[in-house]
Formats: sequence, C-alpha cells, structure tokens
Amino acid sequence: MLNFEEISRQICEKENLEILKILRTLSGIKQTLLCQREKDKVVLSIGEQRPPVFRNGFESEKIVIPRIIKQDVILTKDFSEAEVTEVPYEIEECLEGEAFTEIWAKREIKGIPLSEDLEEEIIKVYIDLRELFDNLLITKEFISTFSEWFRRVFWKWITVIKAKNLITFQDQDRILGKIADHPDYNKLVQPEISHGHFAITHFIRMPDGRTGIVDLTHFGLRPRYYDLAFLLWSHWFWMREEILDKPEEIWEYMKNFFKKMQRNSPKEFQDEISLKQFYLVLLERILGALYDIAITTDHVEQIFKEEEQRQKLTKFLQKILECCLEALSFPGKTEN
Ligand SMILES: Nc1ncnc2c1ncn2[C@@H]1O[C@H](COP(=O)(O)OP(=O)(O)OP(=O)(O)O)[C@@H](O)[C@H]1O
Ligand SMILES: [Mg+2]
Repeated sequence: MLNFEEISRQICEKENLEILKILRTLSGIKQTLLCQREKDKVVLSIGEQRPPVFRNGFESEKIVIPRIIKQDVILTKDFSEAEVTEVPYEIEECLEGEAFTEIWAKREIKGIPLSEDLEEEIIKVYIDLRELFDNLLITKEFISTFSEWFRRVFWKWITVIKAKNLITFQDQDRILGKIADHPDYNKLVQPEISHGHFAITHFIRMPDGRTGIVDLTHFGLRPRYYDLAFLLWSHWFWMREEILDKPEEIWEYMKNFFKKMQRNSPKEFQDEISLKQFYLVLLERILGALYDIAITTDHVEQIFKEEEQRQKLTKFLQKILECCLEALSFPGKTEN
C-alpha cells in the first residue's frame, strides 16, 4: 500500500511542482494529480508509467497525445516504515480541453445504450486511433504484453470467478475446452495495437476540435477490437436498473454498435471473422467484469454500494455470457 500523501509531497519537492488538484486515487496503487510547473500545468501520475511510445507526444489533424516531460522513480518507505519501495512516476503535459466525461456527465448519460452522438464520437475516435496505431511497428516488447494478456484472460479471471461460483463448471468447460482449445481459436486472436484503457475518461475535446488521448499506460498488443470491448465494459457499470433487466437487448445493442463501427470503417474491418473476433474480446471483458465483482474492485465498490445491485449486475453478466458463448461457438464437434 502506497502512502500517496507522503510520496506526492516528496516528488513535488524534488520536481518543483505545486499540487493544484488530485484527479484520481486508486487506493494504495496509483494517484494522478494536476500540478503547476513553472508556467505550465502538468499531470503527475504516481505508481505507473507509459511504455516507451509517443514520448515526445503526437499531433495530427485529428489526434493529440501529450508529451512526457519526465519519467523516474522515487524511493519511499511503506506504511510500516519497514521496507523501502521504488515507486515509478511520470510527469506529462496537460491537455487543456473539455474531457468527454465532463461533456457527457452534464447530460447524465453514462450507461448503455449510449446516446447516438456519444456513440458516433467514440466510433470516430476508435477509427482515427486505429489509423494511427496500425501504422506503428510492432516490437518484440509488445508481443510479450500480448501473450501475457492471453494467459490472463483464460486463467486469472476464470480461476477466481469459478471459485466464487460466478460461473458454472459448464461455462468454464465451454470457454476453455470449446473455444480456447478449438483449432480455429488462433484465427480469432489476431493481435493489434490497442490503447488498453479505451474509455471516455481518456478522451479530451481540444479547443480546436481535435481529440486528445491520454493515459497510454496500458498501451500494447491485444486481440483485435479489444478497445471497443473495453469501452462497452466501462459503461456496463453505469447502466440503469431497468436496463440491467434486459441483457438480451443490450447484447443486440452491442452487436449493432460493432456493426455501425464496421459500416463507418475501411474494408479490412468488414472481413467475415470480424464479428467473432469482437465476441471474443467481449468474452474477456465479461469475465473481467465478473472478476471485478468477485474481488470487489474499487469501481464496483464505489458504483454499486448495495449487495443487491451487485447481484443484479452479476445476473446481467451471466446472461450476456450465455449470449456470447452461444455466438462464439464453433460449428462442428470438438467435444470428446
Ligand atoms: N495528460 C493529461 N492531460 C489532461 N488530463 C489528463 C491527462 N492525463 C490524465 N488526465 C485526466 O485525469 C483524470 C484521471 O486520469 P487517470 O487515467 O489517472 O484515471 P481514470 O482514467 O479516471 O481511471 P483509470 O484508473 O481507470 O485510468 C482523467 O479524467 C483524465 O482524463
Ligand atoms: Mg486512466
């Protein structure tokens, strides 16, 4: 557990920063702060760093990525004062615009179905970012990130959620045996470069209309369309109760959302395997969301205060898991 009060004080003293606002604290794990550094506003992230991409920032007609000013580590004592820990931190340029979260919070639209204008904005950001990422070279370093993800999805999530009885033995068997071990499975996990936390908290409408993209900490290789599944996942937690009761409708909605993205995209997004590839990454997010409930992550705790609400979300996820497994199953017999 990191003591952010102490660490941020140490870093600010070392880097000559003045704290203006705490933007986010993930208890004991990371903290993001808005700071003043001479004449400029900067963002200080403690506990994590961007992998070596776009260090000098990036700007095109459509997209802006902030420049990293400094990445370093600081030595600090833990709460018990017994051990010295090395904590990474990063100072990056602050993109001053209006965050998507603020724009849409004003209209109180958070859950899905997304409003049509937000949907269109997201699809546009996704396509613009794909254009940028698809032109990057994939290095060995990112290939290892990809294989890590691969292992995590099918083991870490399942081990925990099965132990908590959030999925059945049959579900586990279907996910591992009939999908992950199927000979056609490899066709589904085509790696592509992903933002990694593709959510509206990380999009900023710049004054000139371009889109700022922040928090590239999780940038790396993941199976195709992962970012879109992550985006939808981030909105499951905000669904109104009456919507939670309609999982089949939401399943249809997500399918149509993907198809809308395809219609707006270049041809390569429209190959036959695409839809199944999208279902595969949705499967990972469904399992990931059940895992969030199983271990009561920060966001589950903050958004779903009552046990009853968590049970409703669990039921919703179990139902869309069923839809997803159905949609993903391969034709032909693979069982013993
Ligand atoms: N370089 C930046 N310029 C402007 N705003 C930023 C910058 N980096 C982060 N932010 C904003 O700071 C806030 C906190 O960001 P952060 O990524 O730490 O947390 P989060 O996105 O809320 O949660 P998560 O832990 O899931 O990433 C977000 O609203 C984000 O848009
Ligand atoms: Mg973030």
